[in-house]
Amino acid sequence: MSNAPVKVAVTGAAGQIGYSLLFRIASGALLGPDTPIELRLLEITPALKALEGVVMELDDCAFPTLAGVQIGDDPTKVFDGVNMAMLVGARPRTAGMERGDLLSANGAIFTAQGKALNDVAADDVKILVTGNPANTNALIAMSNAPDIPAERFNALTRLDHNRAISQLAAKLNVPVTEIKKMTIWGNHSATQYPDLFNCEVGGKSAAELVDDHNWLENDFIPTVAKRGAAIIAARGSSSAASAANATIEHMRDWALGTPDGDWVSMAVPSDGSYGVQEGLISSFPCTVKDGKYEIVQGLEVNDFSRAKIDASVAELAEEQAAVKELGLI
Ligand code: NAD
Ligand code: LMR
Repeated sequence: MSNAPVKVAVTGAAGQIGYSLLFRIASGALLGPDTPIELRLLEITPALKALEGVVMELDDCAFPTLAGVQIGDDPTKVFDGVNMAMLVGARPRTAGMERGDLLSANGAIFTAQGKALNDVAADDVKILVTGNPANTNALIAMSNAPDIPAERFNALTRLDHNRAISQLAAKLNVPVTEIKKMTIWGNHSATQYPDLFNCEVGGKSAAELVDDHNWLENDFIPTVAKRGAAIIAARGSSSAASAANATIEHMRDWALGTPDGDWVSMAVPSDGSYGVQEGLISSFPCTVKDGKYEIVQGLEVNDFSRAKIDASVAELAEEQAAVKELGLI
């Protein structure tokens, strides 16, 4: 390996998601076995000791792709020169909370981190927000980083995308590999809209194969949209390994590209496509080539889909108004 290491920042690195994420990044799951990685790990001061323990474990794996690890509690040091930033660190919701309850608790984190990235990140930085409420946290970070192109701020809906594929595969009794062109529209919240009308299974329309609107509306959509709460109820804490997996898949595809004939769901700043208010960070079907994503254009949006997308986008607009009111953007 002769290439210079790619500097990858992870915030909240001593948390649950971090414990799964770091080892997979370091083992080559993000950029492959030939790209060395330097990890930059940010935590709050009281968690640095635990983070030191995690770094000891990273050392003990002797990963060939791991070229170095730095840890710290100062974002301007940790983010210095980073090419990728995974913003995971935030307080997770607990039973009974909606993700919106986290807006004020977590908003301040993303103003500071947006400013620090603006000041010190590499020119090619790609930023993915996993910490909830992910779309609006990404909006806050983006708004506080005027020198970084807006399109470099994404939020994670890949976990919802993967959940939707898995639920549909189980319903139709097909392997997940048969399912293409899944789309999550809108917010990473209970209003999100997983779309089966543009989804294909073995080349055929998923909605037609399901042929059961009642299941689609009253089982599939709520199961996917409320899966996070179901995991919290079952596990006692929020999804971690699956969230780490989705975070890696989003960043990997953003860097290395999406396969021909398929797309992925990414929450990206809207350019007005599909009537989504410009500037909101909303989930769309996206393809990626040469490190740049594009929103897939020209998909059919029927009346049912239109109402669902509009409801989720209205929630994003409300969150935007709330953080404006709090002075965070
Ligand atoms: P966790 O509580 O286990 O870990 C969060 C870590 O963030 C803690 O170690 C904490 O010390 C750290 N942290 C807090 N403030 C920080 C700051 N200012 N800078 C750096 N680090 C900071 O939580 P978790 O289970 O790892 O989840 C992290 C976040 O991811 C939560 O907001 C959770 O809701 C969210 N999440 C999102 C998705 C998604 O699909 N978008 C899925 C699962 C979880
Ligand atoms: C998830 O979808 O699992 C996460 O966003 C955690 C949560 O609060 O639902």
